Amino acid sequence: MVIVKSIDELLEATSTFKGSVGFVPTMGALHEGHLSLIKKARKENDFVVVSIFVNPTQFLEGEDLEAYPRKEEADVKICELAGVDVLFMPTVDMMYEKDELSITAPAIRGFILEGTKRAGHFDGMLQIVMKLLNLIAYNKPSTFRAYFGKKDAQQLVLITQMVKNYFINVDIVPCDIVRDKDGLALSSRNVYLSKEDRVRALSLSRSLKRATELVMQKEFNSSIIIAEMKKVLSKVEVEYVALVNREFEQIDRVELSNTIILVAARVGTTRLIDNLWI
Ligand code: PAF
Repeated sequence: MVIVKSIDELLEATSTFKGSVGFVPTMGALHEGHLSLIKKARKENDFVVVSIFVNPTQFLEGEDLEAYPRKEEADVKICELAGVDVLFMPTVDMMYEKDELSITAPAIRGFILEGTKRAGHFDGMLQIVMKLLNLIAYNKPSTFRAYFGKKDAQQLVLITQMVKNYFINVDIVPCDIVRDKDGLALSSRNVYLSKEDRVRALSLSRSLKRATELVMQKEFNSSIIIAEMKKVLSKVEVEYVALVNREFEQIDRVELSNTIILVAARVGTTRLIDNLWI
């Protein structure tokens, strides 16, 4: 594995690639969820690139940019063991200049749910993903795939739209959510949870399980499903529970094979999200 810290080094390392390239962008503090993306990329491509960059523009005032878990040494080991070819770890100065162009998330899909709770987050996220995709596409790989987790469902939908709207030559590959044995969706932010909060956090995945039960009983009414989920979420501070279609439009009834059920809640000081694709 080659570790590259500058853009020139990245472009040089990827210029030697002859074949398909799988790219996994991350903010580090790698866990089994990231590893599943890397493994999938490894299986499906000749070359694998991972980036680790805690992107400041997607954190809002008062969010956890400074405290965001950083585990460089462990991350390097994980990437090495997973068979990554190139690990890209740029600095903020390399990725941004002072007076930058910006990208604005689309007016409807970008400004509901996470978009209202974290106004501006998606603009910064799209900006860095655009930069990273362009860097990996620079040497024109024969096939270019980028891997994103379904846990950040709205992020995934917006990136897919950006790629389409800006004609970026990459296949976006959605990857399943990875959970701990007890059902908690893996997230780098789970390290913030106290023992008691971690137990309470399980209500997010339990609420989605409750939604599954209801759908299996042919209860397709969104309001009823949301009300039932909220009962399971009584011990956490719910930010939203919503049903959307794959285009991220809110729906009144479940559309089988086209629905995402989403939940966001604060557990203690930690904000968690989870979802279910049905
Ligand atoms: O999902 C993440 O970790 C980040 O939002 C991403 C896609 C790496 C962009 O910074």
